[in-house]
Formats: sequence, structure tokens, C-alpha cells
Amino acid sequence: MWKRTASMAVLFGLAVSSVQVAQAQVAQPGRLLASNCFQCHGTNGKGPGFDSLAGKSTNEIYKELKEFQSGKEGNGIMAKHAMAYTDEQLKLISTWFAAQK
Ligand code: HEC
Repeated sequence: MWKRTASMAVLFGLAVSSVQVAQAQVAQPGRLLASNCFQCHGTNGKGPGFDSLAGKSTNEIYKELKEFQSGKEGNGIMAKHAMAYTDEQLKLISTWFAAQK
């Protein structure tokens, strides 16, 4: 009997932790999208050698991304990235990076 109770407790624990993970993602909708940028710009926007996003405002980042998306700015790397997102997603990404300290 206690075995069954113990496995119920484990199952309950799993259910609670996946709810917490889901809530964390809802609270930071831009983070998942921005994770695509971490490799070059760093998890906090202070990239390992690439242009730093740290200290920029949401509007600045969004404006730059729209310029890259148009193909008129940059050397092509960022254009390819920016083209893959909707305006709504670019705003979420910009907001997320602007909020990093
Ligand atoms: C493969 C590496 C790479 C990835 C991944 C990448 N970037 Fe970039 N990013 C660059 C490079 C290189 C530049 C400078 C390029 C240029 O001016 O054309 C740049 C420039 C920028 C700039 C302009 C910064 C400035 O000061 O002018 C912004 C904003 C930016 N990236 C945002 C992003 C976002 C948001 C993502 C994720 C969607 C992303 N980047 C993903 C390499 C990358």
C-alpha cells in the first residue's frame, strides 16, 4: 500500500514541476524565441565577440531587426535570422533582450 502512495507522490511531484515549467515559459514568452540568438549574442545579450545587444532598448533592437529583415542592413547573417520571425515574435525577442541586465 505505501508503495502505491509513494509512486502517487512521485507522479504528483512530476505534475507539479511540469506546471511550474509551463508557467515559467508563459511568464517569459520571448525567452524561448531569443534562445536562438544566444549562441552569437550571449544569454544576456553580451555576446562572445558579436555585436552586443546589452543596454539597447526594445525599440532599438526591434528597429535593427526590421532593417536586417528588409535585407538593406548588415552582411546577411542577421537578415536570414530576422526573416524567420513575425513582427509579433520580433517584438517579444526585443522586449526580452532589452530586459536583460
Ligand atoms: C550566427 C550568429 C548570429 C546569430 C544566431 C544571431 N546573430 Fe545577431 N548579429 C550577428 C552578427 C555577425 C551581427 C553583426 C552583423 C551585421 O551588422 O550585419 C549581428 C547583429 C545584430 C544586431 C545589431 C546590433 C548592433 O549593434 O547593430 C541585432 C539587434 C541582432 N544581431 C539581434 C539578433 C537576434 C534578436 C537574434 C536571434 C533572433 C540574432 N541576432 C541571432 C550574428 C548573429
